[in-house]
Amino acid sequence: FWFLLGRRRRRRGEPPLENGFLPYLGCALQFGANPLEFLREKQKKYGHIFTCRVAGKYIHFLTDPFSYHALIRQGKHLDWKKFHFATSAKAFGHGSIDPAEGNTTENFHQTFIRTLQGNALDALIEAMMENLQYVMLQSRTSKLQSNTWVTEGLYTFCCQVMFESGFLTLFGKEFNSNNDKNLSSKQENERAHILNALENFKEFDRIFPALVAGLPIHLFKSAHSAREKLGEALLHKNLLKRDNLSELVTLRMFLNDTLSSFDDMEKAKTHVAVLWASQANTIPATFWSLFYLLKSPEAMRAAIKEVQSTLESAGEEINLDGKHISLNRKQLDNMPVLDSIIKEAMRLSSASMTFRVAKEDFTLQLENDFYNIRSDDIVALYPQLLHFDPEIYADPLTFKYDRFLNENGEEKTDFYRNGRKLKYYYMPFGTGIAKCPGRLFAVHEIKQFLVLIFSYFEIELVDNNVQCPSLDQSRAGLGILQPANDIDFRYRLKCL
Ligand code: HEM
Repeated sequence: FWFLLGRRRRRRGEPPLENGFLPYLGCALQFGANPLEFLREKQKKYGHIFTCRVAGKYIHFLTDPFSYHALIRQGKHLDWKKFHFATSAKAFGHGSIDPAEGNTTENFHQTFIRTLQGNALDALIEAMMENLQYVMLQSRTSKLQSNTWVTEGLYTFCCQVMFESGFLTLFGKEFNSNNDKNLSSKQENERAHILNALENFKEFDRIFPALVAGLPIHLFKSAHSAREKLGEALLHKNLLKRDNLSELVTLRMFLNDTLSSFDDMEKAKTHVAVLWASQANTIPATFWSLFYLLKSPEAMRAAIKEVQSTLESAGEEINLDGKHISLNRKQLDNMPVLDSIIKEAMRLSSASMTFRVAKEDFTLQLENDFYNIRSDDIVALYPQLLHFDPEIYADPLTFKYDRFLNENGEEKTDFYRNGRKLKYYYMPFGTGIAKCPGRLFAVHEIKQFLVLIFSYFEIELVDNNVQCPSLDQSRAGLGILQPANDIDFRYRLKCL
């Protein structure tokens, strides 16, 4: 009978099971509407581990942070790659990147670590610092006349500035000579191309959750065409016309050409995947960092003080005569107040999910007990439960800019639950083997954005009493959530 309904029965030794009411979908709708509320309710009912049927899959949720290591340490029974590879191919439309399937022998994970961390990160940071200032000051000059205020949506602004600067940093520039007579018209052309790519990115990004859930892209005509246009812009033949490609893109092009049998469009789509990964979370994280700063005068004062003292000790002066501010990685690393602000903003807005797939039937050993897991089942963590736990983070829905600072003003790393120190307390970048390889760059670029905003602009909310926008839950499980609505702010160049 259970089999006919497409549901399973709980066997001895397995976690408590919630099949949900709907055939096939199981709990998918309740989970999708508000995952945090759903999981809290089930946690209350069943305890620290339970199984939910979601869209034909059985997901075992671990909710006790002291048991997270059971999933995070790389056990031989759990696979982290298959799910990632399959999701990427489904969403971006390239062939399988699983070396086991024969299209490529590239180890993507290694490529990302090699080109987003270590020495490669210094170059990315340097390029981003230049590009952010170019985008904020030159590329937007038409808006920045004399000292008049410009009013804009804060999300729209963060989106444009981060997308344009991030795109230039990874994929280089079309123009190549400062002596070129037509430089400014080329720059305008370039900007139009990037803003066009941004429109395509947004169109595609909107349906991203549906693609991850397994819906075919053909159901979404305009998003499909947007993805194809992004692919065309990133064809190798077009990338070769650009200067200053990042090491990440150069190496990925080389490995596409030497280790894969992908056709030109498939190669381009692997670059669309990198573009998406580099922007989709960074944009909302930048928005929330700046929004909370604008809402919190105390945080703003502390941030501006830190920015001023960092610039002073680096011997940097702010002026508008074309000489850009430069701060290197070490100087940026020594800004604990901004670090804490960015962390706190991401704690409040992150809804990532960590998955592993069982390779076979096995016994999952937790802190104090163990459970039988069946082959192909998913074991998952939903760290928002942790981020919003009032025992770990007092008053968890309130932004406290210094939450991640200790009494010496340095990074705070001791957080407790039940009187025990936690190893895992902050996970917007995932954790373990599949942890985001771009996390260091991401935090640096948000920090650079904030440093430059406070250096060059006066900035304020149009309405200081504006409500904090709610989190758009449609991307729950996929990373940093976007605000449900935009917020008006205004800015103008400082009189320097
Ligand atoms: C993967 C978060 C920015 C590149 C991931 C994952 C998360 C994440 C949660 C999946 C980890 C897992 O499955 O356990 C974020 C957040 C960001 C951010 C919150 C910004 C605030 C970036 C940036 C880049 C980047 C700027 C590149 C420039 C990647 C790549 C992967 C990834 C390539 C896939 C890694 C793999 O499968 O080997 N990110 N990310 N991310 N991220 Fe990020």
